[in-house]
Amino acid sequence: MIVNFQKAIDLLHANQPVAIPTETVYGLAANAFSDDAVGKIYAYKQRPRFNPLIIHVAEIEVITWAAISPFALQLMQEFWLKRQASISFVLPLKTNHPISLLALAGLDTVAMRRPNHKIAIDLLSQLNFPLAAPSANKSNHISPTTANLVESSLGEMVPVIDGGSCQIGLESTVVSLVNDNIEILRLGSVTQSELAEFGNVKIVSHTDAIKAPGMLKRHYAPNHPLYLNITKKIDDMFLIGFGKIQGDLNLSENADLNQAARNLFAYLNMADQQTSGTIGIAPIPNFELGEAINDRLCRAAEKN
Ligand code: TXA
Ligand code: MG
Repeated sequence: MIVNFQKAIDLLHANQPVAIPTETVYGLAANAFSDDAVGKIYAYKQRPRFNPLIIHVAEIEVITWAAISPFALQLMQEFWLKRQASISFVLPLKTNHPISLLALAGLDTVAMRRPNHKIAIDLLSQLNFPLAAPSANKSNHISPTTANLVESSLGEMVPVIDGGSCQIGLESTVVSLVNDNIEILRLGSVTQSELAEFGNVKIVSHTDAIKAPGMLKRHYAPNHPLYLNITKKIDDMFLIGFGKIQGDLNLSENADLNQAARNLFAYLNMADQQTSGTIGIAPIPNFELGEAINDRLCRAAEKN
C-alpha cells in the first residue's frame, strides 16, 4: 500500500514498520528503540531472530549508543559524508544503550548506516529515533529495488513510500571496525580496494555465520534453480544476459557493472516469474562491483 511521507511519519511514530526507499534497496523500517516496532519487522519478514538489523541514522552526531573511535569517525566522515557511499559500519555497543535488544540479536556490536537517499534522510531528520531497516523482502528472498517488488514480496498491506528504482541495487557493504580492524562482512558497492586506502582489509569468510548472519551461504534466492556462467540457453531456461551475451533480458548491453547491479534483483525476480524451467545468468567479470554481484549470485545459486 503506497503511503505518503506524512503518513509514513505517523506510522513510524505508532511503532508500525514502513518500507522506505534507500539508494541500495528498499528497507523495512521501524523505530530502533522499540521492541514492539522491531518485533513487527521480524514478523513481516519471517526473519530468524538471530539475524541482527542495520540501524539507520541521518547524522553521525546522533549515535550516542556506540563507541566511535577516532579511526571509525574518520571512516564514517569519509564514506558517509564525503563519498556518499553505501556502507554500514559495525561498532562496539556502549552499555546502557537504548537500542532494542531484538534488533541486535544479542550481539555486543551494532551495525550503523547513513542511507544516501533524500527521502530516507528527510524521514530520519524528522524522527527522534533511528530506524532499524533490513531489506524489505521475505527472509532469504531477493531484495526489492522498487515499491512494486516490496509489495510482491511482503504483501500489499505493507505500507511503502514509493521512491522509484534504487540507484545502486545491491545492499550496502558491511564492514566491522571493532578494535579498529577493517573486516568486510558483506561485499557491496564499496570495494576492498577503496577501503585498503585506510589500512589492512580482511574479507571474513561467509561461513562465519555468527559475525554476519547475512553471509549465510544460501541467501537472496529465486524460487527456480539458478545456473551461473551460462553463455547459451539450454531447454526452457530463462537467460539473463550481460554484455555480448544477449539473453531474454540483458543486465547491461555495454557491460557496465553499475547498471548490472541496478538491474540485478529486479531481473532475477522477472526471470523467476517468467521461466517455466530454470534461470541462467551470463558470466559477470569478477572485479570491482562485479565481486559483490557474483557474491549475491553464488548464494542465490546455492542449493539448500
Ligand atoms: O543496503 C542495506 O544495507 C539495506 C538497506 C535497507 O539499508 N539493508 C540491509 O539489511 O541489507 P539486511 O538486514 O538485509 O542485512 C543486514 C546485514 C545482515 O547480513 C546482518 O547479519 C548484518 O547486516 N548485521 C547487522 N548487524 C550486525 C552486527 N552487529 N554484526 C555483524 N553483522 C551485522
Ligand atoms: Mg536482506
